[in-house]
Amino acid sequence: MQTLTMTMPDDFHIHLRDGEYLATTVPHCASYCTRAIVMPNLKAPVINTDLARLYQQRIVDDLSNSQEFQPLMTLYLTEKTDPAEIITAKNSGVVFGIKYYPAGATTHSQAGIFEWQKLRHVFETMQAVDLPLLIHGEVIDPQTDIFDREALFISDVLAPLHQEFPRLRIILEHITTQEAVDFVAAAPNNIAATITVHHLLLNRNDLLAGGVHPHYYCAPILKRVKHQQALIKAAISDTGKFFMGTDSAPHSIETKESSCGCAGIYTAPVALPLYATLFEENNALAKLEKFCSFYGAQFYRLPINQKKITLEKNAWAVPEYYDFGNSHVVPLYANKTIPWRIQK
Ligand code: DOR
Ligand code: ZN
Repeated sequence: MQTLTMTMPDDFHIHLRDGEYLATTVPHCASYCTRAIVMPNLKAPVINTDLARLYQQRIVDDLSNSQEFQPLMTLYLTEKTDPAEIITAKNSGVVFGIKYYPAGATTHSQAGIFEWQKLRHVFETMQAVDLPLLIHGEVIDPQTDIFDREALFISDVLAPLHQEFPRLRIILEHITTQEAVDFVAAAPNNIAATITVHHLLLNRNDLLAGGVHPHYYCAPILKRVKHQQALIKAAISDTGKFFMGTDSAPHSIETKESSCGCAGIYTAPVALPLYATLFEENNALAKLEKFCSFYGAQFYRLPINQKKITLEKNAWAVPEYYDFGNSHVVPLYANKTIPWRIQK
């Protein structure tokens, strides 16, 4: 059987949710990565370091004894964020980034940002103490076509913000377009991007052709095939600027299969095997380790993990669902057979 042993990855963008959901999400996450950047968009957002510390403890409490896992916490930026909180966060050893949600762009983002210009003093402090800014890059103007929101954010928000704070480390998260790839590739080394496995594997036909597929609905929305191809090219490039961030985002089956379904795809149980499948299909399996385990750690200035993980080419059927509180969550590629699996 073909196997692939590599340095244990880090996931630089994940939603673990809270409370009873941690029993599902934390073991899945810890099965393929040693560290993960944990999103702060809880119902009550994680807006300060004290809340991040408490949330981190709740996550760690859900680890089994055999699992080694370090949650890297983030704070949710609001228009009320105080620069003093940025310094507290930086010195905490717990917080590794500040998350910018345009208000209303996605799940639990209502407390996010309308006008970035109001936060100049915060960005200045982040730049001074070198705390990264993690961006959900979509404009929120309802007049803007949903498929154009990322490209417009790059020209209208990201470019001027980067120009004004040229030393601020920025991660453009879960990129979905050629425009994002081009911007990040051309920018200096303090600008990077994460790429999800679903944006590499899927395009908007998967979401909309032959019926609506709610389990493929996410934000930013899947784009056309030319953008998917640009993302694949970026992921297998050797620039060091593009790395793994699954954006695994569980919602219960009822809230996905609904007349107004939530955005988010639960990929944690399948992400690493599917990245391997995608890289192999593109004759780039040799680059998987850099994308999953080196480039992100380097950008975040973390030591490379010592632990290894082995993938084996041994097809398995993805479960139809997993328990999720008192409901269920449907993973990406539920009921499908996929070629790679994580060796136990
Ligand atoms: O699809 C998404 N789901 N995109 C996001 O930005 C948020 C996430 C969630 O929290 O469900
Ligand atoms: Zn996300």
